[in-house]
Amino acid sequence: MLSMSAGLCVAVLCALTAGLGVRGEHAEYRRRASLESVPGEDTSMNILHIRAVDNSSTIHYVWSSIGAPAVLLVYTSSPSSQLNVNWTQLTSPTPYGAITIEPASSVLYSTALLFTRIFEYQDVNNTADFSGTPEKYFYPAYDLSEFSWDDANATVNASSLTANLTGRAESHSFQNGSLTFRISAYDGPGRDKVSPRLLHNANCSKFEFLLSQVKPRGNNSRFALEMVTLEKKAGRKSMQSVRSIDDEYTPTIFEVAQLVPHTPNSSHAQGYFQWKSVAYGSTSGKREDSLPCQHYILKSLNESVEFPSVVHAFFGEDLLETYNVEAFNVSFGIADGDFYDKYNFMSWSALIGYGTPPKDSFSILVISIMGVALGLPVLLLLLGAGVVLKLKNRVYSSYEPIN
Ligand SMILES: *[C@@H]1O[C@H](CO)[C@@H](O)[C@H](O)[C@H]1NC(C)=O
Ligand SMILES: *[C@@H]1O[C@H](CO)[C@@H](O)[C@H](O)[C@H]1NC(C)=O
Ligand SMILES: *[C@@H]1O[C@H](CO)[C@@H](O)[C@H](O)[C@H]1NC(C)=O
Ligand SMILES: *[C@@H]1O[C@H](CO)[C@@H](O)[C@H](O)[C@H]1NC(C)=O
Ligand SMILES: *[C@@H]1O[C@H](CO)[C@@H](O)[C@H](O)[C@H]1NC(C)=O
Ligand SMILES: *[C@@H]1O[C@H](CO)[C@@H](O)[C@H](O)[C@H]1NC(C)=O
Ligand SMILES: *[C@@H]1O[C@H](CO)[C@@H](O)[C@H](O)[C@H]1NC(C)=O
Ligand SMILES: *[C@@H]1O[C@H](CO)[C@@H](O)[C@H](O)[C@H]1NC(C)=O
Ligand SMILES: *[C@@H]1O[C@H](CO)[C@@H](O)[C@H](O)[C@H]1NC(C)=O
Ligand SMILES: *[C@@H]1O[C@H](CO)[C@@H](O)[C@H](O)[C@H]1NC(C)=O
Ligand SMILES: *[C@@H]1O[C@H](CO)[C@@H](O)[C@H](O)[C@H]1NC(C)=O
Ligand SMILES: *[C@@H]1O[C@H](CO)[C@@H](O)[C@H](O)[C@H]1NC(C)=O
Repeated sequence: MLSMSAGLCVAVLCALTAGLGVRGEHAEYRRRASLESVPGEDTSMNILHIRAVDNSSTIHYVWSSIGAPAVLLVYTSSPSSQLNVNWTQLTSPTPYGAITIEPASSVLYSTALLFTRIFEYQDVNNTADFSGTPEKYFYPAYDLSEFSWDDANATVNASSLTANLTGRAESHSFQNGSLTFRISAYDGPGRDKVSPRLLHNANCSKFEFLLSQVKPRGNNSRFALEMVTLEKKAGRKSMQSVRSIDDEYTPTIFEVAQLVPHTPNSSHAQGYFQWKSVAYGSTSGKREDSLPCQHYILKSLNESVEFPSVVHAFFGEDLLETYNVEAFNVSFGIADGDFYDKYNFMSWSALIGYGTPPKDSFSILVISIMGVALGLPVLLLLLGAGVVLKLKNRVYSSYEPIN
């Protein structure tokens, strides 16, 4: 009886684990990934190109620091599609066509993410929510299209598939400071070693947004980043918040935010952005240095937006006629938490990818805890039932059959 109950318990646990989805259910899916810099005329005009190739498709990520930093994601149905850059045209007033993927007919999906402005504001009440903050508490925003950028070629590491786009503003506060987009490509599934330990696969890449040694302009300074994205008119992106009770890899952080497109009747997958709602005040990414972050509503931009030339070069001059353009903010810090000046450093990471965004399943630790928590009462219940059954049998067995 005991072994039967235990067996049932194991069955319950198995069902639980299967239901919650334990990691490792997907076979290793890999792509051949490469990261290189596209040589141009001027070392401050960077284009970095990531190719991630499988048997029948290529995902291209094209990062640029010409104007506002931006990344284009292009998915093609060919394992040999190529990126072409015409620098002469790219720097001309009519850049459309300067960035192409050949063969053009293989392009099934494309999108872009632009980094437009960094806001700094005085969080006088320490609420870490700037939606109601009056204009006067904002310092002049840093316009990222006005930054000057280092030569990224020197930072490309082709074996670790990483590169840095580092730039600074003219202003005094950036005298010793810098902004870096640290870019990483992946050729297979895994989990980052650095916080927030993002889960990734071969269909995505990552950037870390690092604000380092920038002098805050006040005592209660907090920062926010504004981003812009676009989607073909048939669809638009929406913000999703995925919550979990499991924080094994990012203590106290339970939210994953993601921006996914909704295109009715789309015949193929699309691109996404995904991040954990946390930044860090140190490179080590320790729990005590975590700066939980917050995202704000997606706003449709229907007026003229100043796009960097790479976006016009790939998507066209009259973008707003063919694309829905949306923008959103992410701010860094938590109510009653530390201000930027405690660390003079901040790092935030996000994934850019194609297909289904990675999803954390419950960790073995949490499953065990839940298993014990749910399994024990079941075990006791079954044991109880067993005793009753046994007693009943004994009662029945006292009525000897009359023969
Ligand atoms: C790619 O092709 C090779 C050889 O044809 C095959 O062994 C492999 O399974 C294929 N991989 C995928 C992901 O289709
Ligand atoms: C690059 O663009 C310029 C200006 O549009 C054009 O004259 C030139 O032929 C193009 N170069 C190539 C290699 O296509
Ligand atoms: C700070 O809180 C006070 C009192 O609640 C309020 O009057 C004031 O408007 C708040 N300031 C800001 C910038 O939110
Ligand atoms: C880029 O870096 C590589 C290796 O460091 C070097 O061989 C190459 O000449 C550089 N290219 C340019 C355009 O500076
Ligand atoms: C890239 O940036 C990271 C973070 O700031 C830094 O640790 C790393 O040394 C940089 N790599 C190169 C090659 O400059
Ligand atoms: C590239 O990255 C690998 C792995 O992280 C490291 O061992 C190597 O030293 C790096 N190369 C350069 C030139 O920084
Ligand atoms: C930059 O660093 C120098 C030397 O440490 C220091 O004197 C100067 O005040 C710093 N500038 C800013 C804006 O922090
Ligand atoms: C990656 O993308 C391919 C389409 O090229 C898709 O078949 C595959 O399921 C995706 N893999 C993951 C892990 O999302
Ligand atoms: C910042 O804090 C210091 C010490 O707490 C104080 O002396 C200074 O006036 C404050 N500055 C501002 C701009 O509030
Ligand atoms: C999507 O497909 C459904 C059924 O096939 C159709 O009723 C609907 O009109 C389609 N929507 C669009 C936007 O094409
Ligand atoms: C932009 O969209 C908003 C809301 O959809 C609308 O109220 C506004 O009139 C539009 N502006 C322009 C210039 O089309
Ligand atoms: C981001 O926040 C700033 C400051 O409040 C605001 O001016 C800007 O319009 C916001 N952008 C979006 C897309 O909401």
